[in-house]
Amino acid sequence: MKTTPLPQESEQDYGQNPTSIRQTDKYKSEYVHGFVEKWDQLIDWKARAESEGSFFIDELKKRGAKRILDVATGTGFHSVRLLAEGFDVVSADGSPQMLAKAFHNGTNHGHILRTVQADWRWLNRDVHGKFDAIICLGNSFTHLFSEQDRRKTLAEFYAALRHDGVLILDQRNYDAILDEGFSSKHTYYYCGDNVKAEPEHMDEGLARFRYEFPDGSAYHLNMFPLRRAYVERLMREVGFQQIHSFADFQETYRTDDPDFFIHIAEKRYHDEPEDSKVSAPPAAPTGAAVKPKL
Ligand SMILES: C[S@@+](CC[C@H](N)C(=O)[O-])C[C@H]1O[C@@H](n2cnc3c(N)ncnc32)[C@H](O)[C@@H]1O
Repeated sequence: MKTTPLPQESEQDYGQNPTSIRQTDKYKSEYVHGFVEKWDQLIDWKARAESEGSFFIDELKKRGAKRILDVATGTGFHSVRLLAEGFDVVSADGSPQMLAKAFHNGTNHGHILRTVQADWRWLNRDVHGKFDAIICLGNSFTHLFSEQDRRKTLAEFYAALRHDGVLILDQRNYDAILDEGFSSKHTYYYCGDNVKAEPEHMDEGLARFRYEFPDGSAYHLNMFPLRRAYVERLMREVGFQQIHSFADFQETYRTDDPDFFIHIAEKRYHDEPEDSKVSAPPAAPTGAAVKPKL
C-alpha cells in the first residue's frame, strides 16, 4: 500500500519581520518537531495531571457528558486523560504532526486515539456526529487571527454539540499583559524553570511569546491576544446561552490577576442569560509546579 508521507517539519521560520506574521494558518508550521518533542519531554504528563487536578473531569461528569471532542488534541494529553477516565473521545487537530505524536503518546499509555485531522473553521466537514462536550484547551483558540475565523470556529463548535452540550475553552489572561504594559511583562515558568515563557512583543493584534529551554534553544509562537470579555461576547453572539468563567492561578499562584481563564459555555437554552462573572479558581493542588498551556 502506498502511504503519503507527512509534510516535512523544518525549524520555525518567521522571516525578516516576525511581528508582521498574524495569520491563522501559521499554526501548522509553528509546532515544529523540535519544539513539540522538547515540550513533551520536559513537562511530564504525570506532573501536568497533578497540577491540573480533576477540574475538567469533574465539570464533564457533573454535566453527564460522555462523548467528548478534543478539538485541540496537540500531543494528546487531555484526550488520553479523558479516555483513562472512561469518556468516549474523538481527538481532532489541524496539524498532522501533532496528531501523529498524540497517537504515539496514546499507545504508550495503552490507548488507541480516534484521530481526525480537522481545521476548526470547517470542523463539521471532517468530524461527524454530535458531542456532549467540546474541549479546546491549552490556550489554543488564540491561534485564530481574524474575527471571521473566531466566529466561524465558534459556530462550528456550536453545531457539533448536542442541544445541551458544553464548550470548555481556556485562554491566557492577555488583559493583564496588555493593560499593565509591556514593561511589566510577566515571565512564566513551567516545570520549575525547565521552560521559561515570556512575551517578546505585545500589541492589541499580536502576542509573540518566546519559549526557552534549558539547552539554550528557543522557539516562538505568534498568537492573538484575546481579551476575556471579547471571547465571552463572541460565545454569546454565536448562541451559547450561559458562560461560566473561572480564574486559574496555577502557574504563578498570584492572588490578583489569574494567569488563565477557563470558560464553560452552555448551549442549553436559558430564558434569561446571566451576567458575566468570573468564579473562584479551581483549587490548585499543593505542590503543583506545572500547568503547561502554550
Ligand atoms: C497550544 S497547542 C495545545 C495542545 C493541547 N490542547 C495541550 O493543551 O497540550 C494548540 C493546538 O491547537 C491546534 N490548532 C491551532 N489552530 C488550529 C485550527 N485552526 N484548527 C485546528 N487545530 C488548530 C494546533 O495544531 C495545536 O495542536
